[in-house]
Amino acid sequence: MMKTLIKINNISVDYDMNEETLGAINNVSLDINENEFICILGPSGCGKSTLLKAIAGFITPNQGNILMNDIQITGPDKSRGVVFQEPNLFPWYNSKQNISIGPKLAKKPKSEIDAICDKYLSQVELMEYKDSKVFELSGGQKQRVAIARTLANNPEVILMDEPFGALDSFTRKKMQIMIRNLWKKNNSTIFFVTHDIDEALLLGTKIYVMQRAENSIIASYDIDYTTKLYANPKELVFEEERFIKLKEEILSLLEE
Ligand SMILES: Nc1ncnc2c1ncn2[C@@H]1O[C@H](COP(=O)(O)OP(=O)(O)OP(=O)(O)O)[C@@H](O)[C@H]1O
Ligand SMILES: [Mg+2]
Repeated sequence: MMKTLIKINNISVDYDMNEETLGAINNVSLDINENEFICILGPSGCGKSTLLKAIAGFITPNQGNILMNDIQITGPDKSRGVVFQEPNLFPWYNSKQNISIGPKLAKKPKSEIDAICDKYLSQVELMEYKDSKVFELSGGQKQRVAIARTLANNPEVILMDEPFGALDSFTRKKMQIMIRNLWKKNNSTIFFVTHDIDEALLLGTKIYVMQRAENSIIASYDIDYTTKLYANPKELVFEEERFIKLKEEILSLLEE
């Protein structure tokens, strides 16, 4: 039996806009189970980031609730790590210092902090950039530091909001392979927001499709071909029949 980490129970989030209220998400329910790689796919404005912020605990739903390990989420917590589109690193710190922030706050001993930093620097393939200042890093490298910084807190679930959206397509592809391998290696649970259908189909073990007209989830898919796709981590196989079928199906849903 899969363990459910997070239960989202019929939530809605409204924003106050001058005189009116805007329903940013309406009646959304879903479970995040341990070891899932959930992709939330939908067009701009459909409410993806709002949903992620509610799970992170940055905003409180106007209706419904979100439980983590049966306890209602009422604010941010380090058990839920967040990675945004922009890396938001401390510019005057080097890579290692940025990654060590969480472990330092947790008052871990220095030897353990060093071990944690080395582990995740190596996982994001940045060992030789350990002492590089943020301004010396490329966009993709900065985002890898941001991912390592989140992993260093050992969160139970990692929430990612279009983490590769600012990267060129070549770097993006490499990052997709990296994050999928990290997920597998660390037995992570990932909740990943994207508007890129190929990205969702390549990464997810489960895809939820959100629609702009309803600001809600309109379909969900269990993805069963990914193990095969990632058998060779250097190669992403696009020709898979099921991949193409699903892509057509989801595209037609979003066109309506
Ligand atoms: N703080 C806010 N105040 C008012 N309205 C907001 C706020 N944040 C988001 N909205 C509105 O809520 C709706 C959903 O926004 P959200 O950011 O969740 O969409 P999204 O799916 O993440 O879009 P994108 O792909 O462009 O990031 C949009 O209409 C947006 O304008
Ligand atoms: Mg967004």
